[in-house]
Amino acid sequence: MSIFNKIIVGTLPLVPKNIVRKFANRYIAGDKIEHAVNVTKKLNEKGIIGTIDVLGEDVFNKEDAKRAKQECLAVLDAIDKHKLNANQSVKLTSLGLKIDFDFCLANLTEILTIANSMNIFIRIDMEDSTCTIDTIRIYEEVHEHYPNCGIVIQSYLRRSYNDVQELVELNANFRLCKGIYIEPEEIAFKDKQEIRDNYIKILRLIMENNCNVGIATHDDYLIDGAYKLINELKKTNREYEFQMLLGVRENLRDKILKGGHRVRVYIPYGTHWYEYSIRRFKENPQIAGYIVKSIFTGGK
Ligand code: FDA
Repeated sequence: MSIFNKIIVGTLPLVPKNIVRKFANRYIAGDKIEHAVNVTKKLNEKGIIGTIDVLGEDVFNKEDAKRAKQECLAVLDAIDKHKLNANQSVKLTSLGLKIDFDFCLANLTEILTIANSMNIFIRIDMEDSTCTIDTIRIYEEVHEHYPNCGIVIQSYLRRSYNDVQELVELNANFRLCKGIYIEPEEIAFKDKQEIRDNYIKILRLIMENNCNVGIATHDDYLIDGAYKLINELKKTNREYEFQMLLGVRENLRDKILKGGHRVRVYIPYGTHWYEYSIRRFKENPQIAGYIVKSIFTGGK
């Protein structure tokens, strides 16, 4: 990121929330579950699958974590009731990972049991590196009893290749992404090309071991690399899917779909939209620039 973009992004926390919200609308379905249902239905009509995410993370009291769990259960009901072609993504810190491991595990197990009875898949998002070990541990605990569950691997983490070497032994179901959190150099690659190279290396490892994978990226370089692996390893489109975020590179998304690949879009909703949106703006300094400009123009 250029110094100019870094300055723009650095000023984001000073921007009033109502202005941030105006730009965030592109990345989130809305505040309520109905909004997520409507967005999912529209995507389904185009042949795109969804993964619905209740926004929220870093919960530090049990009541809030229980509320987050209830909302996840409401999402399962909505997917079932509206016959949506969608699964659900969950963040373990919203279910209490930072409060108590077993409490979080119990919350996730409750969600997985109900999801299983509805034949709905649950993806465990990967959060910052303070959560990596516990997230993998929880995944390993539930995976045996709940095959309707998958994990996320971040290619910027130096440890990820080794983690995947172990997880393929369990026939894990992966989403592979670059990783969004700011991590220290000791544990994470910082160079753009190194992160890409590690991504392709890990994707090859997953595919050669015949595990299912969600290729989560908007990066042309990685998408081309994935196409090459799909051809080389003769993968059918039941063994992988491309995954993209709501509001990001929709033309590319449609092109991938037209090529005969499955495409899933991450559909976040909820009142805790701020942190998620700020992360998206940081990936797109052009939008961050518009937001900062809005401070001076009053958002007009
Ligand atoms: P990159 O950031 O280089 O983007 C490639 C191109 O896409 C850019 O040049 C730009 O044109 C466009 N673009 C990217 N982001 C944009 C934006 N916000 N707005 C507009 N244009 C944009 N991370 C994580 O740590 N844990 C997780 O669980 C997940 N889960 C997840 C699910 C799904 C479905 C996706 C697609 C991504 C994630 N991520 C994630 C985020 C991921 O780690 C990564 O930060 C983003 O996908 C951006 O990386 P890209 O590979 O898209 O490349």
